[in-house]
Amino acid sequence: MKSDIKTIYLKDYKEPEFFVENAYLEFDLYENETIVTSKLQMVKNPQGVDNDLTLFGKDLKLLSMSINEIDYKEFNYNVDDEVMIIRDIPEKFELKTVTQIDPANNTSLEGLYYSSKMFCTQCEAEGFRRITWYPDRPDVMSNFKTKIIADKKNYPALLSNGNRIDFGNLDNNRHFAVWEDPFKKPSYLFALVAGDLVALKDKFTTTSGKKVDLEIYVEKENINKCDHAMKSLKQAMKWDEDVFGREYDLDIYMIVAVDAFNMGAMENKGLNIFNSSLVLAKPETATDLSFQRIEAVIAHEYFHNWSGNRVTCRDWFQLSLKEGFTVLRDQLFSADMGSKVVKRIEDVIDLRTTQFAEDSSPMAHSVQPDSYMEISNFYTSTVYEKGAEVVRMIKTILGDELFRRGSDLYFEKFDGKAVTIEDFVKTMEDISNFDLTQFRNWYTQSGTPKLKIYEKYNGDKSQYTLTIEQYCDDTPNQKSKKPFFIPLKIGLINSKGDDMSLNVKEGMVDLEKNILYVKETKETFIFENIDERPVLSVLRDFSAPIKVEFDYSKDDYLFLMKNDKNSFSRWNAFNEYILDVILNLIDNFRNNIPLKLDNGVVSAFRSVITNNNLDKAIVAKIIQIPSEAYISEQMEVIYVDAIYEARKFLINSLGNLLFDEFIDLYNENNLAVKYSVDYSEMSRRLLKNTALSFLVYSENGTIALILKKQIEESDNMTDVSAALSLIANSNFEKESESELANFYEKWKDESLVVNQWLAIQARVKKENSIEKIKKLLNHKSFDIKNPNKVRSLIGVFANDNSVNFHKIDGSGYKFLEEQVLILDKLNPQISARMVKPFVKWKKYDEERSLLMKKSLHKIQKTTNISKDLYEIVTKSLV
Ligand code: TRP
Ligand code: ZN
Repeated sequence: MKSDIKTIYLKDYKEPEFFVENAYLEFDLYENETIVTSKLQMVKNPQGVDNDLTLFGKDLKLLSMSINEIDYKEFNYNVDDEVMIIRDIPEKFELKTVTQIDPANNTSLEGLYYSSKMFCTQCEAEGFRRITWYPDRPDVMSNFKTKIIADKKNYPALLSNGNRIDFGNLDNNRHFAVWEDPFKKPSYLFALVAGDLVALKDKFTTTSGKKVDLEIYVEKENINKCDHAMKSLKQAMKWDEDVFGREYDLDIYMIVAVDAFNMGAMENKGLNIFNSSLVLAKPETATDLSFQRIEAVIAHEYFHNWSGNRVTCRDWFQLSLKEGFTVLRDQLFSADMGSKVVKRIEDVIDLRTTQFAEDSSPMAHSVQPDSYMEISNFYTSTVYEKGAEVVRMIKTILGDELFRRGSDLYFEKFDGKAVTIEDFVKTMEDISNFDLTQFRNWYTQSGTPKLKIYEKYNGDKSQYTLTIEQYCDDTPNQKSKKPFFIPLKIGLINSKGDDMSLNVKEGMVDLEKNILYVKETKETFIFENIDERPVLSVLRDFSAPIKVEFDYSKDDYLFLMKNDKNSFSRWNAFNEYILDVILNLIDNFRNNIPLKLDNGVVSAFRSVITNNNLDKAIVAKIIQIPSEAYISEQMEVIYVDAIYEARKFLINSLGNLLFDEFIDLYNENNLAVKYSVDYSEMSRRLLKNTALSFLVYSENGTIALILKKQIEESDNMTDVSAALSLIANSNFEKESESELANFYEKWKDESLVVNQWLAIQARVKKENSIEKIKKLLNHKSFDIKNPNKVRSLIGVFANDNSVNFHKIDGSGYKFLEEQVLILDKLNPQISARMVKPFVKWKKYDEERSLLMKKSLHKIQKTTNISKDLYEIVTKSLV
């Protein structure tokens, strides 16, 4: 039935036959009948083999098309679905196309669409073909000039890439603006916006003295929520100059916030388009987490101006070239804005939860995939986050200075070009003379490598030996992989807690950086003059995206938690320790052994929460109990109920046994000070709310009062939503109902706050949750065409409410199956994302596994599902 869906292979890459030198586009904007006229000056690629022009178009009404004013029908041509090939074309010509499109009925949110009374575009990856027929591929780069015509009253702001070179009034209350982008770019970076928008304006002067206008466009009721985004933008611009030597290149940088957006944000040249949730924030409406995400995503899109736009991708298999590198850049930026180690801990938790799970799922793919059906499905944590880890390893291996020189050389050499991941790696190799041949396996092999490490200490010889074996599970289409080149940062700690010097007798080690280069399936590292048995501190700073198995005792963990000089590893030791405890509780629960909490665990927690010398955010990170998803990733078979019960037991026991300590911690950090977003204040709030989270199941009635008070009296959303989430999950039924109702009443006109309200309810772990969630689908605040609403309600339920989504009666699965099919008719990118919880079906117990598989089959058999959804479902069922 769906056999017409083609798989695209990297190995089939061919250069385009024709290039576009100049693109002139004219948009006559009407909600339902927009006319797009495009005039493309095209020339033959000297490298091309024939004179056949390939164009892409989707859902277009073609009004006319001509080549040097000759109707295209006079040429030998054929069109199928999305592709048109016109044969025997002159070497130089003008392609003129007039198409009609319907933005108001474009619910896919790709191409040009109309939503919340504005027109906007999303062209990455292949959205431009929904605007006009075009060689819509990233290695075709052109100069764009764009004229926009629209009603003057409804759409006073008319924006596109580059500089505005003309504007004026027309008849019939219409007006126009003309924009010209001096930089060549692929069509995926094209953007257009028309709406009734106002702008927050500011200026930035680059190091070389260029003055840049900064403008953030929003609907006028939101103009008071843009300060944080603007501040973040200026910080990002300054940071990229200081750390990567990158300056901005146009006279103007614009950001537009839109409510209906498939992803986070988009780096269109000079005109970024953002999901409004990643721009708008003020203390009363946005949590600290949103403030941090805004800072990171504003920076991410800004950094793309070099890593993505000035130097772009040859084809979509190179996606991680821009995304992996840019994620690394935004991670380093965020680390510099706050705390390096806390940021590292957060990124590692995220990687282990999401990317490791992807690597062990049927959708596992390498950082550079070798095939796809629908490229939108490959905007994954593997391409983004693992891609960033891979570039980070290059930085670790080369050192900061060489890495920076490599990055400079890369930007210089490939400026204005569409290049490959290989070009990037080769540049790093050239600058350093470090052979990265084996390292390249990180790009082409999927799966998470595992290291098994064995130690041996020989006191007589003062020798310490590590034997390291590496292996990587088979993944779809990839069996028996070649060994990876793994930079393994370690320390050998003596009984005083100091690092011993590494005198290597055997094995490849970078002694300056304390990094072992692990490169064989099995190899040995021998260290000499080790005069006492050391404790191994392994994978410091998470120097590679791998799993490590080493036989640590509880005492080793406790020793490392206290003594390791590497702060990341101290957190990691505690984390592993807690994980062991939880996995044990899970086993006991499954075997009907009454759950008990070891005294050692209680005192370990006590010593952390009463230690006043630690950074508050670090304390919070240390004591936060791993999420259900994080725990699931550590298990061969995911036992949903056991994970939930074990985790709840642990939290509740700690809350009861350390009640006084947690209350003290809460009170010490519950200060009546005015809200501010600086790092120390965010850390304080995080610690205070983390303390509260241990007390929520407590029968002690004072907790209900504390929560109520915090909801009703805080001046900021961070504290309000933390307390509201807790009360919603507590046994305080009455309070929970009334606080949720009050909250909605108060915030019903703030769409982003309502999303939080939906998400809090989607996360409620109680018995009747699913009924309430179904009811919310019909609530007036819910809109299935708005991806933020879908993610807040359906997405949060399926990903973050295991006990209800995986309910053994199958009601959660049925719910998701139905919603996915409804969504697929409207927005395939979103249906393909929402279906993801089903992908891991094989990892669950047999009963659940079969039910999930049934839902996948049901979806697969539904007629006319999208290519996006079809790819995910089919690959999951293999
Ligand atoms: N390039 C965007 C980023 O910064 C990702 C993105 C935005 C995207 N919108 C999209 C990808 C739509 C696919 C479809 O990461
Ligand atoms: Zn990006």
